[in-house]
Amino acid sequence: MATVHIWVLFIVFSTVLSDDVKLKYKPATKPVRLFTEEELEKYDGSEEGQPIYMAVKGVVFDVTRGKEFYGKDAPYNALVGKDSTRAVAKMSLDPADLTSDTTGLTEEQLKSLDSIFEGTYKTKYPIVGYTASRILNEDGSPNEDFKPEDQPHFQIKDEF
Ligand code: HEM
Repeated sequence: MATVHIWVLFIVFSTVLSDDVKLKYKPATKPVRLFTEEELEKYDGSEEGQPIYMAVKGVVFDVTRGKEFYGKDAPYNALVGKDSTRAVAKMSLDPADLTSDTTGLTEEQLKSLDSIFEGTYKTKYPIVGYTASRILNEDGSPNEDFKPEDQPHFQIKDEF
């Protein structure tokens, strides 16, 4: 009889414990979307009714609500459908600056970039994903500098 009790207790405990383990590994509610350059290009505002996306510092924002700035024929349309980090940092619409490359930017430009990133993009627009090049190197190997826990969208490592 005592052995039966022990078995019942064992089964009850293991069920409780396994439920606990399951809760810890609850999946993230939203999958992370990675954009290649080609994918991001589709959201350049040229098609009426389609969302408009733009990346700054490798973070892809849905800027559709800023249509008057970014839509077709709008003044800053050149910035969308791509990562325009350099253009934002330099406040430039020069085609040569429509890139994620931050090489040679001054301290002041980097500061300005961060303040626009925080104050405008993160505040005003939803994040829809990340550029693939932010996470993977060109040869497909992981970008060791990318830290999920530092990303604006993620509070804890497990969410990634
Ligand atoms: C003579 C030069 C410029 C003037 C007078 C000007 C003026 C303005 C004004 C009045 C706004 C609207 C702010 C608001 O209503 O929230 C704006 C927004 C903006 N400007 Fe300019 N701008 C100039 C040049 C540039 C250049 C060269 C860039 C290149 C990156 C740029 C990037 C932006 C962006 C990205 C926004 C929209 C930010 C958002 O999404 O809210 N501007 N600008």
